[in-house]
Amino acid sequence: MQREKFSSRLGFLLISAGCAVGLGNVWRFPYITGQYGGAAFVLIYLFFLVILGLPIMIMEFAVGRASQKSAARSFEQLEPKGSKWHWYKYLSIAGNYLLMMFYTTIGGWMLIYFYKMVTGVFENRTPQQIEMTFGELMGQPIVMTIAMLLVVIIGLVVCSFGLQKGIERVNKVMMCSLFVIMLILVIRAVTLDGAIEGLKFYLLPDFSKIAENGLGNVIFAAMGQAFFTLSLGIGALAIFGSYISKDRSLTGESINILVLDTLVAIIAGLIIFPSCFAFDINPGEGPKLVFITLPNIFNQMSGGRIWGTLFFIFMTFAALTTIIAVFENIISFFMDLKGWSRKKAILINGIAIIILSLPCVLGYNLLSGIHPLGGQSTILDLEDFLVSNNILPIGSLIYLLFCVSRYGWGFDNFIKETDSGKGIKFPKWTKVYLTYLLPVIILVIFVQGYLSKFIFSGG
Ligand code: TRP
Repeated sequence: MQREKFSSRLGFLLISAGCAVGLGNVWRFPYITGQYGGAAFVLIYLFFLVILGLPIMIMEFAVGRASQKSAARSFEQLEPKGSKWHWYKYLSIAGNYLLMMFYTTIGGWMLIYFYKMVTGVFENRTPQQIEMTFGELMGQPIVMTIAMLLVVIIGLVVCSFGLQKGIERVNKVMMCSLFVIMLILVIRAVTLDGAIEGLKFYLLPDFSKIAENGLGNVIFAAMGQAFFTLSLGIGALAIFGSYISKDRSLTGESINILVLDTLVAIIAGLIIFPSCFAFDINPGEGPKLVFITLPNIFNQMSGGRIWGTLFFIFMTFAALTTIIAVFENIISFFMDLKGWSRKKAILINGIAIIILSLPCVLGYNLLSGIHPLGGQSTILDLEDFLVSNNILPIGSLIYLLFCVSRYGWGFDNFIKETDSGKGIKFPKWTKVYLTYLLPVIILVIFVQGYLSKFIFSGG
């Protein structure tokens, strides 16, 4: 059977960007930037996006496009006979699953907050009451499960219509509305009285803040964020490489996607930080930042209910485009591996994803006694740790070594694939860096992740 392709280049760019643009941009990036002190962190993050994220993104696309397969079969197609690169498929599918196991829960929270905003639940509440709302929600497993189910079902239904009629069509609409909503929100945020302090915090680097947090920790957080936000390491982008033709060079396309992803993250910050400073709310609040602080901000704004509704639609769309993209990857994985029909793959994986998403939901209520990483950690933290600190760096390392090593696909094959088509060519002088330095950098991130988690934090 002929593999289905995207109907247009725009479709490819927006879907890949939709996969990359997600909670990582609108939820994780702002709170991490808040915690690590603003602009100086952002600079380091941008640096790693380019030297670390970009090459690996190009490699994933190259493997996908050359093999015309999902991660289930791509390495088998390209590896030298007798080698074992294709064992990677188990890591890839585990990573996709684990990511969805907590992502669907947070996606559900966005949906619930959207609903609360529309129905005006937060109006006239004090900041303490708003903070309590989040805690109350965590104690409602049924509500959270229903929201998670909705998110999963929306994703599955979109995928059931196939690549062009489902994913491409729906994601295009969501991504375009996301850009429009974001622009409206950013104009509102930067014109608030007092926004200027937030802009200073966010845009003027203060390197003493880096010293406060420890340079090593800041670098580590920046690198982790670079992997996460670009969706690297588990074949999530490779699949979209397998749906395109060879008329554009992959370096050019990857730069486009990286720029879109970065713009959304930066603009999410431009919405959140000016608002925090205008209404005197601490930007270093952590993962709860958007749930606890933002409803307060909207409460104090005129027309806040409308702004808040727009904001949580924005968040929900960002999460949904990512979920749809990852579902597509999981579904095509099983279609390639087992020869299942799309319908069968959706049905079986849908049930599996729903069941596997439950521990994260229940980790806040029925299973709240379980602290898998010590301290007050939750099941979500464990799943996030397994994905972000283990599978993403290791998976990225595998793509990297596969593309530079002569025991893998090899640099020449990689370059040939990457450079076919119009657009920017891959700079070949980076070969020494990619072969000897970048793998070491990734290994260091990996080891450092463990040290900071289990030794320095005492957790
Ligand atoms: N990039 C997405 C975000 O920012 C998350 C994501 C989707 C992802 N697919 C991935 C992260 C694959 C790592 C690997 O929210």
